[in-house]
Amino acid sequence: MRIDNFKVEEWFNKYEYWAKYDLADTCVESLSIEELFEIVGEKDRHLSDIFSRKLNYGDIHGSERLKNAICSMYSNQTPDNITITHGAIGANQLVMLSMVERGDKVVSIIPTYQQHYSIPKSIGADVKLLFLKEENNWLPDLDELEELVGDDTKIICMNNPNNPTGAVIPENMLIKITEIAEKSGAYILCDEVYRGLEHNGVMSKSVADIYEKGISTGSVSKVFSLAGLRLGWITAPDEVINEVNHQREYNTISVGILDDYFASLAIENKAKIIKRNLEKINTGKKILTDWLENETLVRCVIPQGGTTAFAGYAMNTPSTELCKKLQEETGVMILPGECMELDGYLRIGYGNNFEQLKIALEIFSKWLR
Ligand SMILES: Cc1ncc(COP(=O)(O)O)c(C=O)c1O
Repeated sequence: MRIDNFKVEEWFNKYEYWAKYDLADTCVESLSIEELFEIVGEKDRHLSDIFSRKLNYGDIHGSERLKNAICSMYSNQTPDNITITHGAIGANQLVMLSMVERGDKVVSIIPTYQQHYSIPKSIGADVKLLFLKEENNWLPDLDELEELVGDDTKIICMNNPNNPTGAVIPENMLIKITEIAEKSGAYILCDEVYRGLEHNGVMSKSVADIYEKGISTGSVSKVFSLAGLRLGWITAPDEVINEVNHQREYNTISVGILDDYFASLAIENKAKIIKRNLEKINTGKKILTDWLENETLVRCVIPQGGTTAFAGYAMNTPSTELCKKLQEETGVMILPGECMELDGYLRIGYGNNFEQLKIALEIFSKWLR
């Protein structure tokens, strides 16, 4: 299967290891195992539990304990509607491989994680793109969506809260999107990997809870600061989960039992971990917004969720050229909008290393001049 280069991941491979100031990261500062135990408590009990485990395949579709913990992040889901995957990246891929066939009509709302348009394209689907626009605060134009979604649309792919823009779709708009999908009988795949990191502390509704053909993907990478576990999930209607599990036999078998164990602990303690992460995000966001107030060459719709902002800049330089030069001359790493199909923008991550963030933004301002 031929597939387009994954531009964001390739940029990371090329630039991240030598960045002096990394403003491209999308994680909130990751937790160590020690820090996770500090939050969760009863370290000795958990350690003895872990040490005594036989390292077999574990529960093939994920443990009941983990699936029950995941259910607590939804209002309407049962363990039977959930399967555990290798990160959200594995979840998105499995949904596409299970649902999309050559010739199917797919609508993808972009900018977003590239899986949502490049995988269906590689399968031979007819992929129509709906570009989010800065003048709409990066929220989808529903008239445009209605025009793109036809009677035979198989699936609408979206991401809420959105990477890279930080936009959070309000509930009434989310409901309207499900109504547009319903008219055509389309599924909605909503990548909800940042759901829980809404800056006002109010978790958005999941598409899986409000639409009978809604499919939600999530993971512990962003919301729980545990990207190293490589653990995600799919929440979907029965017919989708059955198809996903059928595909899944070929590329997953099961997810590591230690990943399953740590993810269960983290999700069972979601209130504490999300509180920690929102405090960090709002600290970083304050640094970013203070900087934006004084930086006349950069403009940005203030993000409402997630860990990234998508900023426009005043110059005509292509974003890849700007970011390459910036990093070569100052060590500051920012992700070019071109990697997310929108030139003239830069993705800035602000969930990490606040001292560095402050210094790096000052360096960037000086460099721009
Ligand atoms: C929108 C989105 N979906 C999926 C992923 C992949 O997440 P995971 O680490 O859970 O595989 C990312 C990672 O940056 C992302 O931003």
